[in-house]
Formats: sequence, C-alpha cells, structure tokens
Amino acid sequence: MSSHLKALVLAGGRGTRLRPLTYTMAKQLVPVANRPILHYVMDQVADCGIGEVGVILSPETGEQVKEALALNPWRLRFEWIEQDRPGGLAHAVKVARDFLGNTPFLMYLGDNLIGQPVRDVVATFEAERPDALILLKEVANPRQFGVAVVDGDGRVRRLVEKPKDPPSSLALVGVYCFSPAIHDVIATLAPSWRGELEITDAVQRLVEAGRPVRAVELTGWWLDTGKKDDLLEANRVVLDEWGRREIIGSVGEGSRVDGRVQLGPGAIVERSVVRGPAVIGANAVVRDSFIGPYTSVGDHCRVERSQVEHCVILDGSVVEDVERLEDSLIGRNTVVRRAGDNHRALRLMIGDDAEVAL
Ligand code: G1P
Repeated sequence: MSSHLKALVLAGGRGTRLRPLTYTMAKQLVPVANRPILHYVMDQVADCGIGEVGVILSPETGEQVKEALALNPWRLRFEWIEQDRPGGLAHAVKVARDFLGNTPFLMYLGDNLIGQPVRDVVATFEAERPDALILLKEVANPRQFGVAVVDGDGRVRRLVEKPKDPPSSLALVGVYCFSPAIHDVIATLAPSWRGELEITDAVQRLVEAGRPVRAVELTGWWLDTGKKDDLLEANRVVLDEWGRREIIGSVGEGSRVDGRVQLGPGAIVERSVVRGPAVIGANAVVRDSFIGPYTSVGDHCRVERSQVEHCVILDGSVVEDVERLEDSLIGRNTVVRRAGDNHRALRLMIGDDAEVAL
C-alpha cells in the first residue's frame, strides 16, 4: 500500500522529564525492549505506506538520531530538519514548511508508542479528508496532556492544552493527520503560557473557523514514554505484547531460559534462570543470577550474583551482588554493586537528577 501523505516525525526537544538519561541521549532513542522508541515509530510510518519522512532534530541530539536511523531497514527517504530550540509542536511544523509543501501529512511524536496500526487512522483521513484528524485516548490524568471535547459523531468541539480543569478525560495522543490548512492557522498563533507554539491551539483555531476536524478514539494501548515509570510500563507492555522466543546466544548447563526470551548474539547465560518475557542484548553476560519477567538487559551488560525483575538496564552496565533489583531504570555504562559483606556503608557516585531508593 502506498500513501500520498508525507510524514513529519518529531525527534527534537530536551527530554527534561527523563533526566538524567536525556543528558546524553535523545528521549526518542531510549530503548523499550532493547529497541529505540523511534524505531517503533518508523515501523508504523512505513506500515502506512508513506515514503517521505521529515525528521525534526535538535542541535544537541540530532547526530545521534541520524545515526540511529542510518541502517534504515524501512527504506524511508529521510529529510533532516533542524529545529534550533524546543519552540513547540506547531513551531516544528513551521520549521518543516518547505519540506511539507502543500502535501497532507501524518505528524508523529517520536516518543509515543501505539499498540494498533496507525495505517487504519491514515486510511480514515484519506477517505474523509478533514483538515485535521486527531487520535484520542481516555486517561486518568488528563491535566498532563492536550484534551479534547468530542460530540457523538466524532466531531471535535474544543481542545485545550494541559488544562487545569479538564473538560473531558480524552487526551490527545501524539499522532495527527493534517491538510495544508494547518499552516495558515499556525501562522496566526502566539506562544502559550509555557512559551511554545502549541499544535493543540492550532487545531482549536481550525475548529473555530468551522473547518472539519475529526477524532478517532484509540482502542489499543498508548504509551507516552516521558518519565521513568512510563518507560518501565512501556517496557512491560511491549514485552508482554510483542516479546518472542529467540535464543541466539548460549545457555550453559545448569541454566534455564523459560518462555518468551530473546537472547542476543554472543550473549551468555551461566548457572542462571531467565524467565520471560525478557530480552537480553548482544554480548551480555548473566551469571549466577535470576532475570525475572519484564526485564530488558542491554548489549554488553553483565549481571552477576543478582536478582533483577521489571527493570530496564541500558547498554554496557554492570549489576553485581544485588540481592534484588526491581522497578528500576539504569542508564548506560553504570555499575550497581553491593559493597563488601560486613560493610554497612554506601559508596555512591551518582549523576545529576538521579533517584536512588535504598
Ligand atoms: C504533547 C502535546 C499534548 C499531547 C502529548 C502527547 O505534550 O502538547 O497535547 O497530549 O504531547 O504525548 P508535551 O509532550 O509537549 O508535553
């Protein structure tokens, strides 16, 4: 299937809510089940039959985003578009104006994960041709999102960004389809209270101008991976739904690997139990340990004499002699180790904005 839409994928911003990981890493590249979130986004874009993709980059992390997409198994045609500051979602559309031309487009926030094909949403947009089509999902905490009020037949009446007093519990998912009419309303926007040009305000202007704006409510899951707990939840859901058994690395005698476990090339499991769903990256070593469900261990990690469950451990990290590590998110090239036996002292070297619960 091929589509005449273009895609605009937002992979800029500062990722302040995911610090400290995002001091060194774009938030869209943080892995879920050992794959950068952005790869799942590109899976969806390619599945829509879209060929041309503008990728919004920030000056700080642009190079690593390009690198992460360099292999390009989707064979998409990427156009790199730098946004010099995090000026808001509507500002990103402005910056991409030349790339978008007068073509309708799918806009996709690079840190959103969606559990159903976006292809169906694009098909609805192409069939009905509204000026905007937004995706909505019922949430418990609407104050943290853009919120929409919709009438019975899916027509959008009103939108508000991060309302103090939410008029509904339907949050705007970070996936939108637009006709070129969006450019005219963006040109009339002023920055919001948070100093950004809000796409939510732009869509509200379309509604006010009497233009057709449609909403589709998501039936599957939606994960906005902005914070630690969201990321652990995303890891849990993705492993639960899409985890599969694929043992490439070696499982030594006296070890058990149960259920849906991916063990990457060069990985070694010795005298250990790994219980799926879980992923263990390339060249990782698990020795005398238990890896419990909903855990992702990155490439080149080493876990020894420890129990780890419901954790995300990024590439190159070491966990040693830790009786039990749960619900934790551990950055790259870090060491978590229990100090010597009779020693009650803690010895820590912890980066800015970290959180340690003992
Ligand atoms: C942005 C949008 C908001 C939307 C959310 C979805 O929020 O402004 O309307 O609900 O993405 O992820 P931000 O991540 O900029 O706070």
